[in-house]
Amino acid sequence: MAVKTIWDQKRIGVIRKVTTSTATVTLDSQLASLSLQLNGKTYPIGQIGTYVLVPVGRQVLLGMVSEFKKFEFGENGKTKSHYEMIISLIGSVKNGIFERGVSTFPTAETPVYILEEKDLAIAFSVFQRFGFSTGRLSLFENERAYIDPNRFFGKHLAVIGSSGSGKSCTVASILQKVVGFPDTKVVILDMHNEYQAAFPKNSQYLNITELELPFWLMTFQEMTEVFVNSSDEHAATHITVLKELVFQAKRLQNPELKNVLTIDTPVYYDFEKVRSRIEALDSEKSGPFYGKFGRFLVQLDTKLNDPRYDFMFKPRLYIHSASFAELLTKMFGPNGASKITIMDMSGVPFDIVNTVVSLMARLAFDFNFWNISRRECPILLVFEEAHNYLSTSSDGTQAARRTVERIAKEGRKYGVSCMIISQRPSDISDTILSQCNNFVVMRLTNPMDQNYVCRLVADTYPGLESLLPSLRQGEGLFVGDAVPMPLRIQMDPPDPEPASADIQFFDKWKRKSEPTNVGEIVRRWWNQERC
Ligand SMILES: Nc1ncnc2c1ncn2[C@@H]1O[C@H](COP(=O)(O)OP(=O)(O)OP(=O)(O)O)[C@@H](O)[C@H]1O
Ligand SMILES: [Mg+2]
Repeated sequence: MAVKTIWDQKRIGVIRKVTTSTATVTLDSQLASLSLQLNGKTYPIGQIGTYVLVPVGRQVLLGMVSEFKKFEFGENGKTKSHYEMIISLIGSVKNGIFERGVSTFPTAETPVYILEEKDLAIAFSVFQRFGFSTGRLSLFENERAYIDPNRFFGKHLAVIGSSGSGKSCTVASILQKVVGFPDTKVVILDMHNEYQAAFPKNSQYLNITELELPFWLMTFQEMTEVFVNSSDEHAATHITVLKELVFQAKRLQNPELKNVLTIDTPVYYDFEKVRSRIEALDSEKSGPFYGKFGRFLVQLDTKLNDPRYDFMFKPRLYIHSASFAELLTKMFGPNGASKITIMDMSGVPFDIVNTVVSLMARLAFDFNFWNISRRECPILLVFEEAHNYLSTSSDGTQAARRTVERIAKEGRKYGVSCMIISQRPSDISDTILSQCNNFVVMRLTNPMDQNYVCRLVADTYPGLESLLPSLRQGEGLFVGDAVPMPLRIQMDPPDPEPASADIQFFDKWKRKSEPTNVGEIVRRWWNQERC
């Protein structure tokens, strides 16, 4: 009996048909159990997302299973069956080095082999040199998954998945691997105050409502969205007058800059004076603006008198232009003091979240735009719950979307990168997601979002649709140029976890807890004190 070589033992089938990016493989008939024993390990055959090898000349092509079918047919009065799988040809190994894409194609009858754990080392050899691993490969539990962190952080990325799929934990886990470096610079826009718990060291926590984000940092576009109601019949007048008065006020307050000032220069001015002037114009009987600012003033005063907006409209610390540098130092810690800045947005009123995000993102972008050593200190901006403010739907303000779109398009040149996190990717601006070079896709159950994500990464991850709903908690599909090939990774759990853990309803209901202090709830509610 002929001795079986290692390749004979690894063989699982032959190619029947080839297109430009896929091949159809018929499985060898003795593999009806759909598994193969090799070197003491059992490898499943035909599972979506598993890998196979196809030697062609001096190269070995790497394929990923994207479809699996069983065919039944009659022969000599008996029902027989065979299995077929479609594989996507995703890369090739030449002289021991893995490359994405395929230039030589197999022909019919080319044998196909299973990929063993040890073969993976070749695919990872280039990526392993960074020593940056985010978790274990789901299909090879003993193998760690290595990614290229320069590409991952540097070219915009998105983390998407249904609520509870593990996005925040994934982000915390990944960032915990870089927080110890001396010059890491990450700004997290944290909508629910989750991340503070995950970064007890090397981070600074800023509660936006305590920090103050003075109104004078807003661009005129942002101001318009906050104060002008576009459906008001006098909206155009409101915009023109507001622009003129704000510009005048800025010039008056900052005479030394009067030749370079624009309407968007972030310098202090007296907003109360602008308001009084508008009121005077509105009540000037013979003037052109008589009675045109009634509703505008009511809306303006509602915001100015609401204590929830004090952090913006009634600043106490930042009441002169020179304080701008102080604020930027606090936010971006340019002296390497804080590696991760957590901006707690949980206390920001819902109708102004959009403006605040726009402002924060723009400040980060402009900070590096005007920084001559920007290449030395790149900033990663993390947008949590991005569907809330980066959506394309027409309701609500669009300032944040426009700002982040600009960063998505130009940020790379100025060392500003975005990490978009969302449970509703189909709601997010196409311009932003299409600029992302890497995706971490977690369990996704909504069909609209599934379709959307499949369209985004279809050519690199065929068969993705069937996988999306079945991913485990904390399991992510990495697609993009930071991974040698599309990878299914069980993420390392974050340590410590962000404050986002699932609440165990059943356990909580079973156990008698302390009586709820309703008086305390009311007090916090009235005082807007989040816990
Ligand atoms: N890698 C992991 N291993 C094990 N469990 C995990 C992992 N990642 C997340 N989990 C668990 O999943 C739960 C939800 O995680 P997380 O808060 O990150 O979800 P999410 O996708 O951010 O949800 P939401 O969209 O509602 O913010 C947590 O209880 C966490 O313990
Ligand atoms: Mg979350």
